[in-house]
Amino acid sequence: MISQLAYLGIASPKAEEWRQYATRLLGAVLAEDGSDGAVRVKVDDAGYRIAVHPAAEDELRYVGWACNNETALRSYVAELRAKGVELHEGDAEVLKERQVAELYWFTDPFGNRHELVWGQHSTPNSFFPGRPMRGRFVTGDLGLGHVVLIVPDLQAADDFYAATLGFRLSDRVKSDIFNLRFYHCNGRHHSLAVAEIPGMTGINHLMLEVESFDDLGTAIDLFTEDADREILLSLGRHTNDLMTSIYVQTPSSLQIEYGHGGIAVDDLTWVAGSHDLPSIWGHHRSQAYIDGPPGIFRELEGTEAAQ
Ligand SMILES: [Fe+2]
Repeated sequence: MISQLAYLGIASPKAEEWRQYATRLLGAVLAEDGSDGAVRVKVDDAGYRIAVHPAAEDELRYVGWACNNETALRSYVAELRAKGVELHEGDAEVLKERQVAELYWFTDPFGNRHELVWGQHSTPNSFFPGRPMRGRFVTGDLGLGHVVLIVPDLQAADDFYAATLGFRLSDRVKSDIFNLRFYHCNGRHHSLAVAEIPGMTGINHLMLEVESFDDLGTAIDLFTEDADREILLSLGRHTNDLMTSIYVQTPSSLQIEYGHGGIAVDDLTWVAGSHDLPSIWGHHRSQAYIDGPPGIFRELEGTEAAQ
């Protein structure tokens, strides 16, 4: 059973720009580069949580999911294999790169690589923010944050992520425009969500949560004043996880939701909801958002809209 979102790997021609961006705007710090020159971003005591590999184009490289220990990981791998998921064991090189004790990987039905791990390296009291912050990032048992993936078919995505992988439905947002499902694997309202865009696959955003409302406010000031990175969606509050957040540009086409105050869910008592709007108020689209819908996504061959 997956217990948390552990890390995210993307590739980008602008990997180098993440050094300034992650520290000065997000408040993260840099870890040692990967062997290919990947810029690695640290937001807590884990060795690193975000890797940006240098490459010619923006790509979603991998999403890392942690299990609590080796017994949990191996029984989960056996369960997935029995369900027909083709899992590959990571070699010594990938274990070293990801800084984990054990790793298996698979490709989801939409061509995205997911990695299952335990034993992500961590050094207690090793994180101090890259810019003045009142608090820290909300991680720990809740994991890195959440990812919202773009999928061509919501039903097929639900069959895979919920029925096969075992993510539990938190709720959905469904209207003429929106069709999303949100899933939890720990107390965070969602660690994974899927948004349907026919014919497309990829990632829409990564969410990072800060403990202090002031640190969200400071981020608004910094992004407002920054000449290079814009706020894509204005301050707003989501209907489902009640996160108050902004969505911001990164040096790559990935966007980051920078949020505060998301609710916790208890899987034993949680009742899944259904909403027709993603936000109670705010989250207004900027011109930059309208000009180029953010996210790293591509056409998935063999699907309806891509033909
Ligand atoms: Fe989000």
